[in-house]
Amino acid sequence: MSDNLIDLDPNHNPTNNPHFQDVLAGALASPDRRRVLRGGLGLAGLAVLSGCATTGTGAARVSGLGFPTVGKSILDDVILPPGYRYAVVHATGDALSPSVPGYSNAGSESDDWSLRIGDHHDGMDLFFLDAQGRYTERDTGRAILAVNHESSADAYFMHRNGQTSNGISGKKFTQFGDWDLGTRPAAEVIKEINHHGVSLVEVVKTPQGWKMVPDSPLNRRITAQTPTRNAGPREHIEAIRAQMVTRWDTAGGMSRGTLNNCGHGKTPWGTYLACEENWAFYFGMTVGGALLSPKELAARRRYGVVSAPPDVGARRAASQGWHTVSATDDRYARWNLTALGRNAEADFRNEANTFGYNVEIDPIDASSTPVKRIAMGRFAHEACVNSLPEAGKPLAFYMGCDARNEYIYKFVTTAVWDPKDVGRGTVAGDKYLNEGKLYAAKFNADGRGEWIELTIADPRIANYAPFKFANQAEIYVNTRLAADAVGATRMDRPEWGAVNPRNGEVYFTLTNNSAANRTPTKVDAANPRAYVDVDGKKGAGNPNGHIIRFREDGNQGSATRFAWDIFLFGAEEDAGDANLSKLTAGNAFSSPDGLWFSQATGICWIQTDDGAMTDESNCMLLAAIPGQVGDGGKVTARNQMVVDGETVTGTQETFIGATLGEARLRRFLVAPKGAEVTGMAETPDGRTLFVNIQHPGEDTRAGAAPQSLWPGNKGYGRPGRPRSATIVITRDDGGVIGA
Ligand code: FEO
Ligand code: CA
Ligand code: CA
Ligand code: CA
Repeated sequence: MSDNLIDLDPNHNPTNNPHFQDVLAGALASPDRRRVLRGGLGLAGLAVLSGCATTGTGAARVSGLGFPTVGKSILDDVILPPGYRYAVVHATGDALSPSVPGYSNAGSESDDWSLRIGDHHDGMDLFFLDAQGRYTERDTGRAILAVNHESSADAYFMHRNGQTSNGISGKKFTQFGDWDLGTRPAAEVIKEINHHGVSLVEVVKTPQGWKMVPDSPLNRRITAQTPTRNAGPREHIEAIRAQMVTRWDTAGGMSRGTLNNCGHGKTPWGTYLACEENWAFYFGMTVGGALLSPKELAARRRYGVVSAPPDVGARRAASQGWHTVSATDDRYARWNLTALGRNAEADFRNEANTFGYNVEIDPIDASSTPVKRIAMGRFAHEACVNSLPEAGKPLAFYMGCDARNEYIYKFVTTAVWDPKDVGRGTVAGDKYLNEGKLYAAKFNADGRGEWIELTIADPRIANYAPFKFANQAEIYVNTRLAADAVGATRMDRPEWGAVNPRNGEVYFTLTNNSAANRTPTKVDAANPRAYVDVDGKKGAGNPNGHIIRFREDGNQGSATRFAWDIFLFGAEEDAGDANLSKLTAGNAFSSPDGLWFSQATGICWIQTDDGAMTDESNCMLLAAIPGQVGDGGKVTARNQMVVDGETVTGTQETFIGATLGEARLRRFLVAPKGAEVTGMAETPDGRTLFVNIQHPGEDTRAGAAPQSLWPGNKGYGRPGRPRSATIVITRDDGGVIGA
């Protein structure tokens, strides 16, 4: 979701953990760093330098972009280069079963939405089926398409007349923004609960392209109330479950549903990871929190989970108001975090402890139960991407926590990779994702970084005063606090990560930051810019964001040290000193969010979720051909901002990747009005690209005409209101996308 309607990405990190500036001085000229960058390149990197590399499957990778750049657009359509076309695969509200009527697109559905495509399409992946219906990595022309439905804020369009609160209809959730919002009708709330989660639908290749199979028995939904299993390390599972005890499961072994599935992951064994991002905003309390311990309150505060007065502080908590429907029906009561007595088995005070994880789903096995992977930590999980699998070596999973000043993490498996586990579903997940080490990233001044293990054996965690950790299990559930304790580096809203299949380097988008966090005197090497949006005047601080990347020592996911630089800085082409990557009208972008490498072509695809450049272009998708960490050099950001009425200037040096120019960075797609572009998947031949268009018309004001009418205005489904959708992109000549 974008952050232009309500501040859903506030800074809940009160620590003084270092930004890069604290460690930068003197390091930029380090000969040691230069040596490391040269020495660590490896054969894969050399192949890149020669202009062409070979994939594991033997498909050639592109060394140049084969399409003309797409101009900025504020049209209400998906704009592509000449010779490309798109078609909608499915959109919000489409029926997953013949038992459900077609979508009205007028908010008149009377069913509970549990057999419809959810809202706010986000991360996604394809899982091919062989003739026996088993998972295969081969393109068989038949697959399960798994799509996250982030559905963070806006259920406005799914009701006949907007959302209703306290008997008043026509509202948008973003107007509530308060725990004191009266009561909401059950029929609306149940639809809202069920449009969250993940959709799993069968898609097949036809002569007319890839299509959804509307009546496939494999179609199903994981929603915000689907039972899920709480899994973790054998040694700590009882202590984990003790934190998840609720009235619904007094043993804490199961929880219900998944929320705000944003970015995703696809495991090497063929399961789907739905990552839970902005879940903190779904809870309310109807009475005070006097029975909660100071430790419980500290944990809630650190995660931005609702608390009662006087703990609300300056920012009153947002809530969807789902808890207001009923105090006795658990489907609604579970969203109320009030402690009713001394006994946690009598209420849902721990319900928020059951969200904030990577949720593993086997898309192929419709009878399988989703699993929350607790050992991978609890935070605002954006996406989860793994190191290049190597037989006999541990796997690393890289994860960002999407909020201002939060951290980048990784989980390194205890088990070593065995390719025979491909297709073994969540049984393989139990092998790899329960036992392992959890780390937070610290970026040092010399262009190097380190991974700090989050373990109770570290006295900084064991003796951390703001939150007295009792055991390792509390680290998994209160991961942000453990990362605070060890001094991990606070980043600018880490969004998606992606791993370059050519060389294993890891990329993370840092989408943007606000004027409150970023001024010319509050910059550092990793977040070196502080400026004002040049002509749209839509924000200050680091309104356009950037993309950081790093290479693990020895290209091993289990390494505890790495080298980093900044791959790209978002900017408008006329942004002057802020345009450090020398972007042009043909590749200017703002607020990078989704990030994904094509396995077929090696293209790095960059997706935006922007509010700063939208006066001149809707959000977009760009194609980049990256080099590797260290291929650029040093650069100085010259900053200027008005702070408290005074013009403040300053400079900041940092490391930057090689300038790409339009030869290696081009705009490929521009989205309809109000939409972000997010989520990608491809067929292995690189000839069909799946892309998600999320929340067209997001900036519609309650009661006003919709900002967007896409995709109904282009012939998909009934016209009337905007809908999120998955599209497939192909070339008229059937060629490889982007080449
Ligand atoms: Fe769901 Fe971080 O965007
Ligand atoms: Ca958005
Ligand atoms: Ca401009
Ligand atoms: Ca996002």
